[in-house]
Amino acid sequence: MTERSLHSLFIQEDYFKSSFLLHVLGEGTFLDLLNFIEEYAPDPVTRQIVNLAKIDEGRHVAYGIGHVRHILERHPNMAAALIEAAEERNQYLHAVDTGENSYFLEALAILAGGGRGPDQLKTGFERVGRLKEVMYEHRIQRLLQIGLDRETAEAISQSHTPNFM
Ligand SMILES: [Fe+2]
Repeated sequence: MTERSLHSLFIQEDYFKSSFLLHVLGEGTFLDLLNFIEEYAPDPVTRQIVNLAKIDEGRHVAYGIGHVRHILERHPNMAAALIEAAEERNQYLHAVDTGENSYFLEALAILAGGGRGPDQLKTGFERVGRLKEVMYEHRIQRLLQIGLDRETAEAISQSHTPNFM
Protein backbone atom coordinates (compact mmCIF):
# COMPACT_ATOMS: atom_id res chain seq x y z
CA MET A 1 0.00 0.00 0.00
CA THR A 2 2.79 2.42 0.91
CA GLU A 3 4.68 1.44 -2.21
CA ARG A 4 1.62 2.11 -4.34
CA SER A 5 1.15 5.48 -2.59
CA LEU A 6 4.66 6.47 -3.51
CA HIS A 7 4.24 5.12 -7.03
CA SER A 8 1.13 7.25 -7.51
CA LEU A 9 3.31 10.29 -6.77
CA PHE A 10 6.03 9.09 -9.10
CA ILE A 11 3.70 8.71 -12.09
CA GLN A 12 2.05 12.09 -11.51
CA GLU A 13 3.60 14.26 -14.22
CA ASP A 14 1.98 17.58 -13.38
CA TYR A 15 4.26 19.25 -10.82
CA PHE A 16 1.53 21.44 -9.40
CA LYS A 17 -0.52 18.35 -8.62
CA SER A 18 2.37 16.24 -7.39
CA SER A 19 3.66 19.02 -5.14
CA PHE A 20 0.18 19.28 -3.64
CA LEU A 21 -0.10 15.53 -3.07
CA LEU A 22 3.41 15.08 -1.75
CA HIS A 23 4.29 18.25 0.16
CA VAL A 24 0.91 19.46 1.37
CA LEU A 25 -1.08 16.27 1.91
CA GLY A 26 1.50 13.50 2.31
CA GLU A 27 4.33 15.19 4.14
CA GLY A 28 1.89 17.41 6.00
CA THR A 29 0.23 14.35 7.48
CA PHE A 30 3.65 12.85 8.09
CA LEU A 31 4.53 15.82 10.30
CA ASP A 32 1.73 14.83 12.64
CA LEU A 33 2.90 11.23 12.60
CA LEU A 34 6.47 12.24 13.46
CA ASN A 35 5.17 14.46 16.22
CA PHE A 36 3.26 11.49 17.64
CA ILE A 37 6.29 9.19 17.52
CA GLU A 38 8.43 11.88 19.13
CA GLU A 39 5.94 12.28 21.96
CA TYR A 40 5.80 8.54 22.70
CA ALA A 41 9.37 7.64 21.76
CA PRO A 42 10.64 4.79 23.94
CA ASP A 43 14.14 6.27 24.27
CA PRO A 44 15.94 9.62 23.89
CA VAL A 45 17.82 8.62 20.73
CA THR A 46 14.62 7.77 18.87
CA ARG A 47 13.09 10.99 20.11
CA GLN A 48 16.05 13.01 18.86
CA ILE A 49 16.10 11.33 15.44
CA VAL A 50 12.38 11.82 14.94
CA ASN A 51 12.64 15.42 16.09
CA LEU A 52 15.34 16.13 13.48
CA ALA A 53 13.30 14.38 10.78
CA LYS A 54 10.31 16.49 11.77
CA ILE A 55 12.26 19.74 11.40
CA ASP A 56 13.44 18.63 7.96
CA GLU A 57 9.95 17.56 6.93
CA GLY A 58 8.58 20.90 8.11
CA ARG A 59 10.69 22.64 5.47
CA HIS A 60 9.21 20.47 2.71
CA VAL A 61 5.68 21.15 3.88
CA ALA A 62 6.31 24.90 4.12
CA TYR A 63 7.76 24.86 0.61
CA GLY A 64 4.72 23.00 -0.79
CA ILE A 65 2.20 25.25 0.94
CA GLY A 66 4.02 28.33 -0.36
CA HIS A 67 4.29 26.97 -3.88
CA VAL A 68 0.70 25.78 -4.24
CA ARG A 69 -0.70 28.92 -2.57
CA HIS A 70 1.35 31.12 -4.91
CA ILE A 71 -0.15 29.43 -7.98
CA LEU A 72 -3.70 29.38 -6.61
CA GLU A 73 -3.55 33.10 -5.83
CA ARG A 74 -2.83 33.84 -9.47
CA HIS A 75 -4.98 31.10 -10.97
CA PRO A 76 -7.88 30.36 -8.61
CA ASN A 77 -9.53 28.06 -11.15
CA MET A 78 -6.62 25.65 -10.72
CA ALA A 79 -8.19 24.50 -7.46
CA ALA A 80 -10.13 22.06 -9.64
CA ALA A 81 -6.85 20.37 -10.58
CA LEU A 82 -6.12 19.74 -6.90
CA ILE A 83 -9.49 18.13 -6.28
CA GLU A 84 -8.92 16.06 -9.39
CA ALA A 85 -5.44 15.06 -8.23
CA ALA A 86 -6.77 13.85 -4.87
CA GLU A 87 -9.58 11.90 -6.57
CA GLU A 88 -7.31 10.31 -9.17
CA ARG A 89 -4.98 9.19 -6.47
CA ASN A 90 -7.75 7.69 -4.36
CA GLN A 91 -9.07 5.75 -7.33
CA TYR A 92 -5.61 4.45 -8.08
CA LEU A 93 -5.10 3.32 -4.47
CA HIS A 94 -8.57 1.90 -4.00
CA ALA A 95 -8.03 -0.32 -7.02
CA VAL A 96 -5.77 -2.38 -4.75
CA ASP A 97 -6.79 -1.86 -1.17
CA THR A 98 -9.28 0.28 0.65
CA GLY A 99 -8.45 -0.44 4.26
CA GLU A 100 -6.09 0.97 6.77
CA ASN A 101 -2.90 -0.86 7.52
CA SER A 102 -3.85 -2.58 10.76
CA TYR A 103 -0.28 -3.76 11.49
CA PHE A 104 0.94 -0.21 11.28
CA LEU A 105 -1.82 1.13 13.52
CA GLU A 106 -1.19 -1.63 16.06
CA ALA A 107 2.53 -0.82 16.09
CA LEU A 108 1.70 2.82 16.79
CA ALA A 109 -0.70 1.78 19.54
CA ILE A 110 1.94 -0.41 21.21
CA LEU A 111 4.38 2.48 21.06
CA ALA A 112 1.91 5.04 22.40
CA GLY A 113 0.49 2.75 25.10
CA GLY A 114 3.88 1.54 26.24
CA GLY A 115 3.38 -2.17 25.55
CA ARG A 116 1.12 -5.04 24.45
CA GLY A 117 -0.87 -5.58 27.64
CA PRO A 118 -4.67 -5.10 27.39
CA ASP A 119 -4.66 -1.78 29.28
CA GLN A 120 -1.64 -0.53 27.37
CA LEU A 121 -3.23 -1.44 24.03
CA LYS A 122 -6.46 0.28 25.02
CA THR A 123 -4.60 3.47 25.91
CA GLY A 124 -2.46 3.13 22.80
CA PHE A 125 -5.42 2.80 20.42
CA GLU A 126 -7.16 5.76 22.09
CA ARG A 127 -4.05 7.82 21.40
CA VAL A 128 -3.90 6.59 17.80
CA GLY A 129 -7.55 7.61 17.43
CA ARG A 130 -6.69 11.09 18.63
CA LEU A 131 -3.75 11.18 16.22
CA LYS A 132 -6.13 10.57 13.31
CA GLU A 133 -8.33 13.45 14.49
CA VAL A 134 -5.30 15.73 14.74
CA MET A 135 -4.19 14.67 11.26
CA TYR A 136 -7.63 15.41 9.87
CA GLU A 137 -7.79 18.84 11.52
CA HIS A 138 -4.27 19.83 10.51
CA ARG A 139 -4.86 18.69 6.92
CA ILE A 140 -7.82 21.02 6.78
CA GLN A 141 -5.74 23.88 8.18
CA ARG A 142 -3.08 23.32 5.50
CA LEU A 143 -5.71 23.15 2.76
CA LEU A 144 -7.17 26.43 4.01
CA GLN A 145 -3.68 27.92 4.07
CA ILE A 146 -3.15 27.20 0.37
CA GLY A 147 -6.39 29.04 -0.33
CA LEU A 148 -9.07 26.37 -0.69
CA ASP A 149 -12.50 26.98 0.82
CA ARG A 150 -13.57 24.96 3.86
CA GLU A 151 -16.00 22.72 1.99
CA THR A 152 -13.33 21.65 -0.50
CA ALA A 153 -10.78 21.28 2.28
CA GLU A 154 -13.06 18.94 4.21
CA ALA A 155 -13.88 16.85 1.15
CA ILE A 156 -10.20 16.37 0.33
CA SER A 157 -9.21 15.72 3.93
CA GLN A 158 -11.93 13.09 4.37
CA SER A 159 -10.86 11.23 1.27
CA HIS A 160 -7.17 11.31 2.11
CA THR A 161 -5.60 7.89 1.93
CA PRO A 162 -5.98 6.01 5.19
CA ASN A 163 -2.37 4.85 5.22
CA PHE A 164 -1.33 8.42 6.14
CA MET A 165 0.77 8.90 3.02
FE1 LIG B 1 10.03 15.22 3.11
